[in-house]
Amino acid sequence: MLTDTALKADTALTTDIAPLAMTASALSSLRRSAALEQAIANDPAAFRILTGDRPTGALHVGHYFGSQANRVRLQDAGVELFVLIADYQAITDRQAPAEMAGIVTGLVADYLALGIDPSRSAIFVHSQVPALNQLMLPFLSLVSVAEIRRNPTVKDEVAAGGSGTVSGLMFTYPVHQAADILFCRANLVPVGKDQLPHLEITRTIARRFNERYCPDAPFFPEPEGLLSAAPLLLGMDGQKMSKSRHNSIPLRGTPDETARLIARAKTDSQRSIFYDPAARPEVSNLLLLTALCRDTTPEAIAGKIGGGGGAALKAAATDAVNDRFAELRARRADLAGDEAYLREVLAAGNERARAIADKTLDVVRRLMHQQY
Ligand code: TRP
Repeated sequence: MLTDTALKADTALTTDIAPLAMTASALSSLRRSAALEQAIANDPAAFRILTGDRPTGALHVGHYFGSQANRVRLQDAGVELFVLIADYQAITDRQAPAEMAGIVTGLVADYLALGIDPSRSAIFVHSQVPALNQLMLPFLSLVSVAEIRRNPTVKDEVAAGGSGTVSGLMFTYPVHQAADILFCRANLVPVGKDQLPHLEITRTIARRFNERYCPDAPFFPEPEGLLSAAPLLLGMDGQKMSKSRHNSIPLRGTPDETARLIARAKTDSQRSIFYDPAARPEVSNLLLLTALCRDTTPEAIAGKIGGGGGAALKAAATDAVNDRFAELRARRADLAGDEAYLREVLAAGNERARAIADKTLDVVRRLMHQQY
């Protein structure tokens, strides 16, 4: 355990430097990401990636271009990939419990359809890997309440509802996420900027564990974040694309559903279509979506639509999404019909994660002198 004085000294220090340190680390992560891409290309087998999603609903096109396509790229480059379905994280978000099982198998179908290859990559679920979750206990002893409270996600939750509405699991979720990453000793985590503070806590925990229990032979790597270059897609209402806002286009959606969702999208009354994210965010977002689907630039798409107005833009966006995802959707429909196979994939992934987590926990017990 940290002594009281150690906790206080540490708190005093990091309170003063935290905001600056965060900016510096975001900046250096960006620079570092370019170097990491080079290292991956040279020696993919030197990397193990852990990445994950909360099972709160179907994957949408924002997920696809934001993170999922990047995972498949890294997998195909030869990096070992672990994909976590974070069901213990989803229960921090008011998920209706009865829906969970269907959402989890639905996610597995999404992953397989978009190219995660279960013969190379493991797909697994929090609640099925006890040793992963147990690592949270020693890890909790390595961070202070003040440090957790400073994590931006936790801080926002506390600010939104007051600590009376934040559960203990929500409060400790950055530490749980450290267990997600460290149980398999992943050294690379593809992240959006919003997840960098969690990674910082993970690195801190790895470092403190090593200093305390195995200073001569560090056991946990300090994982690095790989920032993706993906541009941010907004939802059809111009807000953040998210399932709960009903503004997202699900990967598995039908062509008609896609057309209806895009028809409802906000545009403006100017007939001439051009890309200007600051002045015309909704029009520019549809241009970006179309361009991503067509592997081109928003400007090129705008040039083709010209004076066609919002209607022509929506028609172009609808066709682009439906063309781009037609094959994926057909694969997904087949997979969704084979529930037994989806469960088999998950069982194999859980098994592989359990074997690794058990070994890690054994070493942790040994290093902590807890073998009796
Ligand atoms: N917190 C992530 C999200 O909200 C999901 C997640 C859980 C995760 N555990 C992780 C991501 C470990 C990366 C590494 O999307």
